[in-house]
This record gives sequence, structure tokens and C-alpha cells, in this order.
Amino acid sequence: MRAVVTTKFGPPEVLEIQEVEKPKIKDNEILVRVYASSINPVDWKLRSGYMKILLGFKPTKILGADYSGIVTEVGRKVSDFKVGDAVFGLLHAYKGGAYAEFLKAKEKYTCLKPKNLNFEEAASIPLATLTSYQALVHEGKIKHGNHVMVNGCTGGVGIAGVQIAKAFGCIVTGVCSTKNLEIAKKVGVDHVIDYTKNGILKDKNTFDIFLDAVANQSFFRAKETLKPNGTYITTLPGFHAFVLAPFINIINSKKLRKVLIAPSKMRTKDLKVLKELIENGKLKPVIEKVYPIEQIREAHTRSETGRVVGKVVIRGFP
Ligand SMILES: NC(=O)c1ccc[n+]([C@@H]2O[C@H](COP(=O)([O-])OP(=O)(O)OC[C@H]3O[C@@H](n4cnc5c(N)ncnc54)[C@H](OP(=O)(O)O)[C@@H]3O)[C@@H](O)[C@H]2O)c1
Repeated sequence: MRAVVTTKFGPPEVLEIQEVEKPKIKDNEILVRVYASSINPVDWKLRSGYMKILLGFKPTKILGADYSGIVTEVGRKVSDFKVGDAVFGLLHAYKGGAYAEFLKAKEKYTCLKPKNLNFEEAASIPLATLTSYQALVHEGKIKHGNHVMVNGCTGGVGIAGVQIAKAFGCIVTGVCSTKNLEIAKKVGVDHVIDYTKNGILKDKNTFDIFLDAVANQSFFRAKETLKPNGTYITTLPGFHAFVLAPFINIINSKKLRKVLIAPSKMRTKDLKVLKELIENGKLKPVIEKVYPIEQIREAHTRSETGRVVGKVVIRGFP
């Protein structure tokens, strides 16, 4: 089969389309003909070698966590899916596999595609939207009427976070740059802060949840903006969130939390909730551009600018 192979760590040019062996499924797995995938910043961080200290000195051979496609084979113990089903899901980003003609996925981590989305729209959802959902619901314990701050409200994680918070009946303050003010309002932000003109930490004692999808703030800087029992959640945890959080959270009524996404049963359950939100019209994919997989290098280059509005999607091999 054809796949985009990371030939070595480096710039987008290290991505090459090559013939590789088709995955072989186990009894509890399904084989999916990939129709679409999407780019997440972790893909180009892995490709560039930025994460090699953490993850080892061999690049992920085939990148890609998000996918949508059609089931072409099912393992002997698979009961929830059959050949021909349209599915979407999340692979482990560090292991990848979605920038390919076929991928194998565990049955328990797979979900039927939302009926009202095409394959490209569906592939834009899993990683970024699950990140926001898990941050707001599991870490932030979001409640109807909360005031939620989304720093980076026009990126993949942020746009989804805004829509999820609105689906919970929350008031949302979002941070973006001047060029994205309109899109921020369109996806549901009630109060927009233009970070190129204004400080983003001026509102004191205001937010129940501060979702930092840019991760350019910190708990200590953002905590003045939180209400007494508010929660700051980062998508890029460092020393504070990994090591100090248990101590910080004992002595403070305001909490520091992190979100780290990887496939698991719980996340599949959450993906099903997202499917419902999508089918009920409460969550809509926002796609900046769909690139054919032959233009994977251009797609990575665009994502790496850090300026994407919503998601960059990859159309699978024809
Ligand atoms: N922990 C996890 O499991 C997890 C999961 C998903 C993502 N992440 C991480 O979370 C971060 C966000 O991911 P993403 O997919 O949302 O990225 P993304 O889609 O590439 O984010 C791009 C957006 O960020 C906005 N932005 C950039 N600088 C900003 C700033 N200073 N203030 C406000 N907005 C700013 C840009 O808007 P402007 O052009 O207007 O600046 C753009 O719309 C990445 O670092 C990613 O690696 C972590």
C-alpha cells in the first residue's frame, strides 16, 4: 500500500510517499481504508525531532492520529463493526499510522462516523476536539452557566473548546488575533480579546475554567483571573503541571490541571458523545483547507506556522 513515510527527523521534505506493507489485523482489530486524516501540531513536532529526547531517536515511520474511512476487514472477535461501515477515530499520535492507504485500529477505540459529516469533516474531529472535551469536562468539571476562557480560540483545540462550552450553556471569553475576531464570534465566543492589542489577564476573579490551548500563560499568571474554585488547564504540560500540580492543588482552592490525549476506552466513550453533539448540530467542524495527501509537505508547512484557523485536513490516497 502507499503511505507517507517519515524518512528521518527534519523539515517537511523528509516526508515521502512510499510503498509499504499493508497492516495485518489481530482478532480485536479492524482494517480501515483511510479516506481522510488531519494534521495536529504533534505530527510536525514528532517529524522535526522536537520530541526525540522524550520519545527516542527513531522517527515515527507513518505519522497521523486522526482518521476516517471505511472498514475493509474485521478481526474474528470484532462484534461492533462490519465490512463497509464508515468510521472515524484516533490512533496513538506517537505511534501514528493514519497517513496511509490502510490502517489498523482496535475495535474498542473506533466509532461510527457522524451521519451528517463527510469523511474530511469527520477526520478533523478526534484529537483536537477530544482534547477540549476532556479538558473541559473531565479536568474542568464544566457546568451550565460557567464562564470559560479559551486562550487560542481559533485553533483546532480552541474552536472545539468554544463550541463545547457553548453546548454546555456557558459564557465564553476567547483570545485570538485581529484577523480572527469574526470567526471567533461566529463559532460562539461571547467576549473576544485581541491579544495583539490587549492584555489577556485583565479580568480578575472572572473565570470558572481557563483553557490554555496556546499554553503561553501559566497557572501562576492566570490564577488571578480565576474565580475562587476555578481551574486552569494547559494543553502543553511542563514541570508545574506534571510535578508541582499535586502540591499546588492541595494548598490552593484554584486548581492546575493538564490534558494529555491518547486512545483509550474512555476516549472512545467521549468520541461517541462528540458524535451526538455533531449529529445534534451543536458541534461543527471548522476546516481551513483540505490538502490531497500528495501535498502532505505543504499541509505540514501550513500547520507549523501556528496560524491555522480550525483544522488542516488531508484527503486520503485516491
Ligand atoms: N496535551 C494534548 O494532548 C494536546 C492535544 C492537542 C493539542 N495540544 C497542543 O495544544 C496546542 C494547540 O493545538 P491546536 O491543534 O489548537 O493548534 P493550532 O490549531 O495549530 O493552533 C493555531 C491557532 O493558535 C492561535 N494562536 C497562536 N498564537 C496565539 C496566541 N499567542 N494567543 C492566542 N491564539 C494564538 C492562532 O491564531 P492567531 O493566528 O490569531 O494567532 C491559530 O488559530 C499545540 O501546542 C498542541 O501541540 C496538546
